[in-house]
Amino acid sequence: MCWTLWIVLGLFPLVDGHPKLKTHQNSLEAADTALNHQNGSLNSVLHLDDGEKAALEPNLVDPAFPMKELNTSYYPAARAAKVAQHYLNYHHGSPSKWFMVHAIKQASSEDISEVGTKYHIQFSVQEQATKEIVENCSAEILFRQTEVQSAPEVNCTCNDLLKIKTSDADHALYHHIKHQPDPMTGTDIPDSQGNIPKEMKPLWYLGGIGASFIMWQQSNESTLYNMAHVHSVKQLNSENDLLAFDYVVLLHEVVSQEMIHWHMQVAWNPTQGVTVTQCHLLPKGTMKQPLAEKHKI
Ligand SMILES: *[C@@H]1O[C@H](CO)[C@@H](O)[C@H](O)[C@H]1NC(C)=O
Ligand SMILES: *[C@@H]1O[C@H](CO)[C@@H](O)[C@H](O)[C@H]1NC(C)=O
Ligand SMILES: *[C@@H]1O[C@H](CO)[C@@H](O)[C@H](O)[C@H]1NC(C)=O
Ligand SMILES: *[C@@H]1O[C@H](CO)[C@@H](O)[C@H](O)[C@H]1NC(C)=O
Repeated sequence: MCWTLWIVLGLFPLVDGHPKLKTHQNSLEAADTALNHQNGSLNSVLHLDDGEKAALEPNLVDPAFPMKELNTSYYPAARAAKVAQHYLNYHHGSPSKWFMVHAIKQASSEDISEVGTKYHIQFSVQEQATKEIVENCSAEILFRQTEVQSAPEVNCTCNDLLKIKTSDADHALYHHIKHQPDPMTGTDIPDSQGNIPKEMKPLWYLGGIGASFIMWQQSNESTLYNMAHVHSVKQLNSENDLLAFDYVVLLHEVVSQEMIHWHMQVAWNPTQGVTVTQCHLLPKGTMKQPLAEKHKI
């Protein structure tokens, strides 16, 4: 599917700058706060006394159960939960249903020798259209030690996901778009003021769900990806009953502060859900930075 991206990713230096868009500012700030916390904790690790050092000795960890509790407000837990969010969105999201991590309740990590690190996260998510909270999500995220980037393996379930009912909205939207005389198009979502026109909201969500696929595939143990912006979207002709869209999206990698543009094609209908059919990283300089860059909010 996205076979070109590994090559492209290695070749091109990435775009600088980081527009602060209203919609994502809170989550970015939360991530930055989490990063600062992590720095704080690293500093304190450097000043351990002997007793504390002993407590960290690996021989005190039961080798049959090498599970380490993580502070849920620190970055490692947030990072793993974000991967679960991307996974959940790609598998269960739609143009009227988009999940964001709401609260992390419990987090632990497990070093699996010669395999990688597996995170266990208990968390809740908030659906963005209805603002409803889904409690009791749990996820396992395995970051394998590999030479080349490989998508983390994820299992994720939420007890109560079915309480978010968007199937009527999805069907209505599907028929609306199917019967439009002209293909739908959009640019710069959100606009320079941080606003998203009502009719563009489904395309903003769908862009986010498609981008979640890319962000999940691109994540590793030291990344935290958000979609910052839809640069452009246009509806494509499709011969089957799927709606197809061509997107250019701007992704923000919070740890490195890199902004990268991806091109992707996304297919959707209410019964089959969302599929990213093509995607590739765009080389630096192909795209102008979004207007919002010049009008920091
Ligand atoms: C997690 O970190 C926060 C911020 O440093 C701290 O206030 C809190 O007590 C910690 N929680 C646990 C369970 O250690
Ligand atoms: C979530 O799990 C807790 C503890 O297992 C339980 O008490 C609570 O009822 C659950 N909530 C939902 C909405 O399922
Ligand atoms: C996901 O669940 C399957 C089936 O229980 C299991 O074999 C696999 O190891 C799990 N993956 C992760 C990342 O925990
Ligand atoms: C994680 O991904 C980032 C961004 O692509 C890359 O710079 C970094 O080297 C990767 N880290 C690991 C451990 O693979």
